[in-house]
Amino acid sequence: TVDKDGRRVFELRAQAGESDLGHGATRTWGYNGSYLGPTLRAERGEQVVVNIRNGLGESTTVHWHGMHLPAQADGGPHRPIVAGGSFQAAWKLDQPAATLWYHPHPDQRTEAQVYRGLAGMFITDDPATDSAALPHEYGVDDVPVIVQDKDFDGSQLSMSGRFGSDIGVLGDEILVNGTPGPYLDVPTELVRLRLLNGSTARIYNFTFSDGRPFALVGTDGGLLEEPYPMRQLRLSVGERAEIVVAMQPGERVTLRSVKPLPEFDFGNRKFNGGDDSFDVLQLRAAPALRKSTALPKTLVATPRLDPKQAAKTRDFTFSDREINDDRMDMERVDAVVVKNTIEVWNVRNGHDTPHSFHIHDVQFQVLTVDGAAPPPQLGGWKDTIFLEPRKRYSVIARFSDYADPTTAYMFHCHVLKHEDEGMMGQFVIV
Ligand code: C2O
Ligand code: CU
Ligand code: CU
Repeated sequence: TVDKDGRRVFELRAQAGESDLGHGATRTWGYNGSYLGPTLRAERGEQVVVNIRNGLGESTTVHWHGMHLPAQADGGPHRPIVAGGSFQAAWKLDQPAATLWYHPHPDQRTEAQVYRGLAGMFITDDPATDSAALPHEYGVDDVPVIVQDKDFDGSQLSMSGRFGSDIGVLGDEILVNGTPGPYLDVPTELVRLRLLNGSTARIYNFTFSDGRPFALVGTDGGLLEEPYPMRQLRLSVGERAEIVVAMQPGERVTLRSVKPLPEFDFGNRKFNGGDDSFDVLQLRAAPALRKSTALPKTLVATPRLDPKQAAKTRDFTFSDREINDDRMDMERVDAVVVKNTIEVWNVRNGHDTPHSFHIHDVQFQVLTVDGAAPPPQLGGWKDTIFLEPRKRYSVIARFSDYADPTTAYMFHCHVLKHEDEGMMGQFVIV
């Protein structure tokens, strides 16, 4: 709803409930319901206000993953909302049209809370981009696809984790938007899927059952410069992608995930889900399909940030569970960034464990992967990237608008178990 001052106001209540996930009554958590939360949506230029209430028996926070906003509103571990408490997050939305998400970020409890069901999508719109150029009817030809894996012990969710896994729980059942065995009725020639890896650990490598191509049109922080045709797309935890796929009348095709870690050695593949394949979502085309506007040749112009303008370069090496040999310390600030400057961050996975890299507040551009130009899926705005073993990634970001020397933003591995174990650092903008 929009209040009398024109602000876009949302109400979120974190609460416990019961869900039918295909195993009877399962105890789960959700926002305003028993599992996941509503899709929030606001437009660039709007003032956003979210009234959060914590109806759980433990502290939580709500973090706006991918959102550019003041550190006070970011929902990091320094601002717990105690059981029964509330918090108001407010910011002015000013970033491109994108598929973002929200999830808890409490100190050392993120994996458990997300796994229980606390997460939701936040779609941003930008009047400056031509929304009609892509399928844009929400729930019809523009569909959120939150992909999560679950492990059941009887009727309840189990978090005991898989034997040998370095990355935590790996479930053998897939939910899409909280639905087991999901399918989607498609009434149009083209359908846009907003994919979010909302799992705690699992990495997906999306493809269609018949190998058909699809167009990648957007990544974490916004639309690409042009649609990019591909047949396989890997998303690690927290990453998003918008894809558009063409359908024929009456046909069925399944979005699948296949062996996501081909470059990993045998042990790291086997124990971390690298050899696993799943059906994710079946698409069922109507016998007659409504005409869709053809995909445009170009989407959104994205000026490249120039490393020559960087005020600072930093290096981060990810080892088994540390970043630069340190674990998260709530009292230690790892980087002090000057407001409105550009920085280059060189990030290296110095280990064979699957890790990823996420920065709060900013969207970055990938300059290089092992010294070479990034592939198209890393060519647009990103806030989370997968770190292949032993590879080096160089990313560039501008840290604009908000300075707050006393409230930190986080950067971390988005494998939630690793994050909880301290694979995280803090930066402040001054
Ligand atoms: Cu999606 Cu620090 O988080
Ligand atoms: Cu985040
Ligand atoms: Cu990690």
